[in-house]
Amino acid sequence: MNSYMAVTNNQRFIYRRIEDENLKLKKKEQLKNLLVDSEFSMKGNCAISLLLTKLDIINTILLMKAGRNVIQHKTGRLKEYESVCKKLEKKGLDFDFHVALEKINDLIGVRAVCAYVDDIYHVADLLEKQKDIRIIKKKDYIREPKKSGYQSLHLILEVAIAFQNETQWIKIELQLRTAAMDYWASLDHQLRYKRGRKEAQLIDEELQQCAAVISSLDQKMLKIRKKIDKI
Ligand code: GTP
Ligand code: MG
Repeated sequence: MNSYMAVTNNQRFIYRRIEDENLKLKKKEQLKNLLVDSEFSMKGNCAISLLLTKLDIINTILLMKAGRNVIQHKTGRLKEYESVCKKLEKKGLDFDFHVALEKINDLIGVRAVCAYVDDIYHVADLLEKQKDIRIIKKKDYIREPKKSGYQSLHLILEVAIAFQNETQWIKIELQLRTAAMDYWASLDHQLRYKRGRKEAQLIDEELQQCAAVISSLDQKMLKIRKKIDKI
């Protein structure tokens, strides 16, 4: 290959890289427009409000039965655009709104923190029975915790929302957990970003041990409550 050909090949390669990069930027811009301050985000916020209200009602029903608040607190959020991009990249997916909608379950997320482990299943049961809720997937990381030690019950569900001209089913990831599980998950989340590679394995093991302690604490508290319930 003479030096002239080498230069043009090199240029071609660089041009292709620039074109690819431009295409990626264009796609990201489109994705951002569809995710942020958009029809999707407005409908997503409606879905969060609806699910939070449903959880309030369920708490009231269970409060009348049990005489205590079963859901201690709850939050909802739309996944930030930057986090959506990171997740798409991690999963090797295209920066495309419809791909994100289909493949990322927690674009819209709600988390409810319950007092005891059995409360989590009571709340889930009452939700599942509702006609305007469809359960797409249930991931029980309480019965089968993740390798990290993470525990929670995840319901990937759809809620029906009546808009002006049509009813639309909107997908939400609901995470149900106890206060102890929430405490572990939030510290694990913080530490995950901070730990260096060298000490990662040791810290992973320590976090797994903490998760086991937390699980046994939840079981003990449940036993105590059941004893008191009998009195
Ligand atoms: P991602 O793991 O989020 O990419 O999605 P996935 O489809 O694999 O779902 P998965 O059920 O594994 O996790 C969904 C969500 O659960 C995450 O976004 C976190 O909020 C939470 N989660 C899962 N594993 C862990 C963990 O090890 N630690 C913490 N703190 N949270 C976790
Ligand atoms: Mg995962």
